[in-house]
Amino acid sequence: MNKKITLKKLQKMKGVEKIVMITAYDALFASLFDKSVEIILVGDSLNMSFAGKEDTLGVTMEQMIYHTQAVCTKAEHSFVLFDMPFGTYTNKKMALANATRVYQETKANAIKLEGGKEKAKIVKYLTENAIAVFGHIGLKPQSVRAEGGYSVKGKDEDEKKEIIEDAIALEKAGAVAIIIEGVKPDVAKAVTQSVSIPTIGIGASVDCDGQVLVWSDAFGFFDEFMPKFVKSYLNGSEQIREAIDSYASEVKSKSFPDDNYTY
Ligand code: KIV
Repeated sequence: MNKKITLKKLQKMKGVEKIVMITAYDALFASLFDKSVEIILVGDSLNMSFAGKEDTLGVTMEQMIYHTQAVCTKAEHSFVLFDMPFGTYTNKKMALANATRVYQETKANAIKLEGGKEKAKIVKYLTENAIAVFGHIGLKPQSVRAEGGYSVKGKDEDEKKEIIEDAIALEKAGAVAIIIEGVKPDVAKAVTQSVSIPTIGIGASVDCDGQVLVWSDAFGFFDEFMPKFVKSYLNGSEQIREAIDSYASEVKSKSFPDDNYTY
């Protein structure tokens, strides 16, 4: 379990063993997750769950690189995936310059970008230049302002066909894996069966080759809003509130620090 997960290993897992992915944005959580998952995603979701913003769109290359460097210091076993920020891969040259920067300034193993057919030329150019690319199709959070909100994708046959075509175009362009977000189970299943690269789902049913969750959702640290697809494995915010209240009341009552915690 200690050997670094490689792309080859991930690709061999398709249809054999489910791939586990979770987000992390710092060294502390990377070290906690490292042995238990195959992939740590430094997601642009950090703009929401770390920086408190409304959506993912404002995060910069500098911020993503900083967080990825921190994650990489403790991701000894897991494969690290860098999420390209909104507006950093709108054309081939820009995408390659930014992705090259990721490889030069961090130890990330691959980059992820949102889009299907419309991004195929960019994906091809990146892969031809030795960048490993994960696609991201279905619900694309970076499109939230253009679409006026988040909505489940693949609800009719036309949309389903589009999403399958997106996946096939990404594979043809050289993508090494695909994230599928917010789609009906039949869409996830059809996509997974249509490509030979792994699919990793979020809100996309068990029929993907793996699953990803945002860590603060998975461990109940973000309780303001909980999408249907999020399962909480810990009541994190409740436990932290109890712990901070205990600490505060012990400081106020002068019961901390007692002799056990004093030199
Ligand atoms: O930014 C992120 O955390 C993501 C996941 C939702 C897949 O892209």
